[in-house]
Amino acid sequence: MKHRKSFPVELISSSKLSNIDFNNLKFGRDFSDHMLLAEYANGEWESVKIIPFQDINFSPAASVFHYGQAIFEGLKAHKTKDGEVLLFRPEENWKRMNLSAQRMCMAEIPSEIFLDGILQLIDLDRNWVPEGEGKSLYVRPFLIADDAFLGVKASERYKFMVITSPASNYYSGAVSVKVETKFSRAAAGGVGAAKAAGNYAASLFPAQKAQKAGYDQLIWTDSKEHKYLEESGTMNLMFVRGNSIVTPSLDSSTILPGITRKSILHLAKEWAYQVEERQIEVAELIDGLKDGSIEEVFGVGTAATIAPIANIGYEDTDYKLSDFTNWKFASKAKNYFEDLKRGEIEDQFNWTVKV
Ligand code: COI
Repeated sequence: MKHRKSFPVELISSSKLSNIDFNNLKFGRDFSDHMLLAEYANGEWESVKIIPFQDINFSPAASVFHYGQAIFEGLKAHKTKDGEVLLFRPEENWKRMNLSAQRMCMAEIPSEIFLDGILQLIDLDRNWVPEGEGKSLYVRPFLIADDAFLGVKASERYKFMVITSPASNYYSGAVSVKVETKFSRAAAGGVGAAKAAGNYAASLFPAQKAQKAGYDQLIWTDSKEHKYLEESGTMNLMFVRGNSIVTPSLDSSTILPGITRKSILHLAKEWAYQVEERQIEVAELIDGLKDGSIEEVFGVGTAATIAPIANIGYEDTDYKLSDFTNWKFASKAKNYFEDLKRGEIEDQFNWTVKV
């Protein structure tokens, strides 16, 4: 095993662990005892440490508050039945974080801070990793700009932090989504392919409108014509037609290059499905739902892994899908990931990393 770097630790005086009801976890509500904090200034990462989870001070002029240089990642640690803790493809998160950093003109994070730092943090708080199906320790690395300066330019100071949160799955069942034909999540040439906080801010107003109309989330379409499928809520979108797994390609640069997306497409090929990554018209999806040639439509992302879609609203009509448990591909893939992440099947692609 590669030598892992270890950073100074300031331990919490008393753990909050006994306050947590592990049988009643909600996504993103509770936070583990420790966090990682790294600070960048003068062209280098000057300090990296693990400290008790706490509020952080910022200048009110910090550029993140004004010009929005903020990016994040999300990954999960799972506990195996032997009590080991496994992370799923953390190196992919590190690479994507640095792609986001490049697009947002932010300092990149060296692998030893991102990867070794996360491993050390999770090792320290390993008792916070919940056991059981659908449960995990959600790991949230994020990077924000910290210059106390109001001129519009790339910041020269950054804070990189990692917090972790014991969680159950993001969505509890199949979701109802509406195809968005007015608002957009991202536009060509913009920052849609980066995991930038602002992309999520931009999605809130249209998502709230959809929720008022009785839907859980949206299917985003292209900003120019609202003719092509992009993402679903905070996830990548896929459907199954015959022997093909079909998903919007990343060519438009408006779509987040999901790690779950990449892993599912890899798996689909291994399972002798055809993979079609291409531009997809909304009409193709709707026609397929009407004639029954599309039976499985789902979102894929870290938080939910696979979120089956039960209903799709488009131009005042709702198109219902059959019960997820009868779907051939998506339920098999969901079980595969659940088993792999909890060490119950062989890790044939070397996707898991032991903490
Ligand atoms: C994911 O599922 O990958 C996400 O990023 C969801 C998160 C924003 C809660």
